[in-house]
Amino acid sequence: MKRRPLLAANWKMFKTVSEMESYVKDFLELVRDVSDRDILIAPSFVSLARMVQLLEKSIVQVGAQNMFYEDKGAYTGEISPLMLLDVGVKTVIIGHSERRHIFNEDDKMINRKVIAALHHGIAPVLCIGETLEERESGKTSKVLQTQLKNGLQDVDTEVIKKVIVAYEPVWAIGTGRTATLEQIQEAHSLVRKEVGTLAGEDIAQNMRILYGGSVKPANVRDIMRLEDVDGALVGGASLDPESFAKIVKFEQDI
Ligand code: PGA
Repeated sequence: MKRRPLLAANWKMFKTVSEMESYVKDFLELVRDVSDRDILIAPSFVSLARMVQLLEKSIVQVGAQNMFYEDKGAYTGEISPLMLLDVGVKTVIIGHSERRHIFNEDDKMINRKVIAALHHGIAPVLCIGETLEERESGKTSKVLQTQLKNGLQDVDTEVIKKVIVAYEPVWAIGTGRTATLEQIQEAHSLVRKEVGTLAGEDIAQNMRILYGGSVKPANVRDIMRLEDVDGALVGGASLDPESFAKIVKFEQDI
């Protein structure tokens, strides 16, 4: 089973619109010969509309870092699925660990967002991952199973195949501390197994599971070689176009 690789950039709260524009110019040049994998960049909300225009004829897709689950209403500061669709965004990161831990998003809210995204035909990148404390107390499997089960609760099996899962151990995000290859493969195979239980073996085998947490040009190749890793969700190392282009072209010499 060969799943199409997805290399995704999560820019978090970095880059103004003009910084995005100059990045895109450089990045497109660097990836112009790439065609056999998916590339996604999730900039800040204010860059989305312009970025979609700039990347319209390219292989690079644009995603959002978050969204609310209602279509519209008195929800000051929130962005709805309809607003994302209107500017041409078809992928959204949901439940990133910074949303869970800094903004207190719980599994219930994340589940509502996943359901809303799918309802509108937007592909959610559902992020799950254990904290250091949870890992050290032997709870990793339980945490991943729970986050996955709760995040995907009541999701129709018809649409579940649009979901992308990102395994991001919280202790490896932005710390320079990558999980070992063994830890990554173990977590990914557990996630795939759990998806199989929830949605069937066929969907599990087709589902793309990304790894995130201090992915960089120097370690991406080994990570991408792991059987159950289908891509990467990259924060810090995606902010420089050359660095992210090297990650995108992970098999080539760096
Ligand atoms: P990092 O972030 O690559 O900077 O560790 C990954 C993420 O938060 O998605």
